[in-house]
Amino acid sequence: MAAETQSWVLMATARAPTNIAVIKYWGKRDEALILPINDSISVTLDPDHLSATTTVAVSPSFKQDRMWLNGKEISLSGGRYQNCLREIRKRAGDVEDEKKGIRIKKEDWEKMHLHIASYNNFPTAAGLASSAAGFACLVFTLAKLMNVKEEHGDLSAIARQGSGSACRSMYGGFVKWTMGNDADGSDSIAVQLASNTHWDDLVIIIAVVSSKQKETSSTTGMRESVETSPLLEYRAKTVVPNRVLQMEEAIKSRDFASLARLTCADSNQFHAVCLDTSPPIFYMNDTSHRIISLVERWNRSEGSLQVAYTFDAGPNAVLIAPNRKVAGLLLQRLLFQFPPPPESELASYILGDKSILHEAG
Ligand code: DP6
Repeated sequence: MAAETQSWVLMATARAPTNIAVIKYWGKRDEALILPINDSISVTLDPDHLSATTTVAVSPSFKQDRMWLNGKEISLSGGRYQNCLREIRKRAGDVEDEKKGIRIKKEDWEKMHLHIASYNNFPTAAGLASSAAGFACLVFTLAKLMNVKEEHGDLSAIARQGSGSACRSMYGGFVKWTMGNDADGSDSIAVQLASNTHWDDLVIIIAVVSSKQKETSSTTGMRESVETSPLLEYRAKTVVPNRVLQMEEAIKSRDFASLARLTCADSNQFHAVCLDTSPPIFYMNDTSHRIISLVERWNRSEGSLQVAYTFDAGPNAVLIAPNRKVAGLLLQRLLFQFPPPPESELASYILGDKSILHEAG
């Protein structure tokens, strides 16, 4: 290692997008290792829209590990951060930067401290989950800086220990998180089902219904569901295994009607589990229900599935359209039902071609 008195900084930066589950993960069989009770499937968003960008720096002058999230320092003392840092440090390799005269041996990483800065390219206030992109990005950037040679799948098992859904952001396109059987979680990893070019006509629209922080976090909510919901056990053992097979087939054959049917059904069952939890958890609100009715009525009137909806642990709607034409019609319908406020108070903003954030309630 370069002499301690010498001052240098070595950095790596990476970006990871968030993902939207079409077959939901809800419930852990091991809380510490974050091992789920069922497989799940998601679609990873385009990184230009909802993603995290993280820079990790190492320097002999750093006295402790520190992290800043959107410019504000946060504590790294939580078990989830510590687990990710420990697992990556264990796998670190030798790093050499000849130009700067830096040599870090793999055993030195245990003693070196890191400074981490992470930003989301969407407003934190929008109430959209950021932990999936955040932990995937953190693990990927650490691995890059520390010359970790593991495959994406193995890195996904580390990101999983930060936040379950983060393991799926390790890949683009459609991704399956296999629950695995091993007690140590080594086979509870993400696998890519199809790359992002496989079905690139799909358009995903996120309607921000409320930007308030949710009352019950996913972690707490799923713990309470595991403890009290009889429906969750039925879902995990009987419903999801078949649904995952059907969803894999729908993705492979780009069958939008099947994708839409399975996505809506799975979102509705997840929220039914939340209601079946004691005390019940209400993630959706009246506006979310109005969006469901709008889509259901439209799908029914056309006699075929035009659009799919799915809701995570909050009221915001994620809508999937088969192409830009249908996405345009959907936006028209949404704007008709939820007219925007006057220009001066407009809280909506367009993120680009593929997503629109709109204050609908
Ligand atoms: C409803 O991954 O946020 O979005 O593992 O406790 O961090 P932890 O939970 P998290 O849960 C996501 C739940 C969900 C469904 C999903 O993304 O599959």
